[in-house]
Amino acid sequence: EKGTYDHFMLKEIDEQPIVIRNIIQKYQHEDGSTRLDADIRAAMQQADRIYVIAAGTSYHAGLVGKQLLEQVANKPTEVHIASEFLYNMPLLSQNPLFVFISQSGETADSRGVLVDVKKKGHRTLTITNVPGSTLSREADFTLHTFAGPEIAVASTKAYTAQMAVLTLLAVDTAYAAGRTLDFDPIQELGIAANAMEALCNQKDEFEKIARDYLSVTRNAFFIGRASDYYVALEGALKLKEISYIQAEGFAGGELKHGTIALIEDGTPVIALATNEHVNLSIRGNVQEVVSRGAAAVIISMEGLDQEGDAVVLPRVHESIAPLVSVIPTQLIAYYAALHRGCDVDKPRNLAKSVTVE
Ligand code: F6R
Repeated sequence: EKGTYDHFMLKEIDEQPIVIRNIIQKYQHEDGSTRLDADIRAAMQQADRIYVIAAGTSYHAGLVGKQLLEQVANKPTEVHIASEFLYNMPLLSQNPLFVFISQSGETADSRGVLVDVKKKGHRTLTITNVPGSTLSREADFTLHTFAGPEIAVASTKAYTAQMAVLTLLAVDTAYAAGRTLDFDPIQELGIAANAMEALCNQKDEFEKIARDYLSVTRNAFFIGRASDYYVALEGALKLKEISYIQAEGFAGGELKHGTIALIEDGTPVIALATNEHVNLSIRGNVQEVVSRGAAAVIISMEGLDQEGDAVVLPRVHESIAPLVSVIPTQLIAYYAALHRGCDVDKPRNLAKSVTVE
């Protein structure tokens, strides 16, 4: 039920802080240790490489998950687009573990890979919002994202829930291997939930950005480096699917290799600048597009912010910053679609779950 909301998408955006807190409760014991099936823990320990398979927004969550699994858990990880994997299969390691990320658990492209790798005898884990779904039933193991039903076609809370569960999986794997971490990722998730809530309480700001920059434009660009790049991809997908604005996400450094030719007077460029070690270089990229006429919207973070930034996020740990930095892009996409008179919850040509290959 939509309750007081005009659209499921806005309701689901607002639910994200609660979803993250709920996931922490589900996956963490009171003494702070993680609660994961012993079988999943063992499968993670035995795997010498993780192959993440997903589509669309879930693929974008997988990209962030790769960083977590490598940096927190020290597990080599690759992320693949499900529809490409079978036709362009990488050489597999000795003991691969396949991790399928799917909100619906019904995506045919992902299922095609699952069926194939199972036949070859590889182990499989599904991270899904629907535990009874096909991908969940057919995989060896399931991790539930506990986001509650997601009705809007554009995925929001399922995406942040996937990243939170990937964080828990990475932490559990790290601890099980006896690693010590120099920060507490689960505590940081709690801090991220508070930051998400603060952003959900400043909707007017995002509505204004959407109105000022996106109500009449034909195209828009999102740029970022490191994990900000992954959020740029997700922000662009969200904007294009519900507002029909042609939007692309780029790695900041790639602009000069071609895309910058598209920048004209007034072209909106939304820049994510929440990663400390690339802050100067992404700001350099913003300069490059602004000097060619772009209308830049910079989303930065406390401690890294500069005068003129459109949005300054509360400070959160870099490894989970995407959970927070995606919120402005979700809200900007929502209001852009609204201002342009689009059907926010049911965009044209799209289905909530894609059950054909
Ligand atoms: C975008 C969106 C899609 C899905 C994709 C995968 O907002 O919802 O890109 O993320 O179709 O779906 P699931 O996660 O159900 O496998």
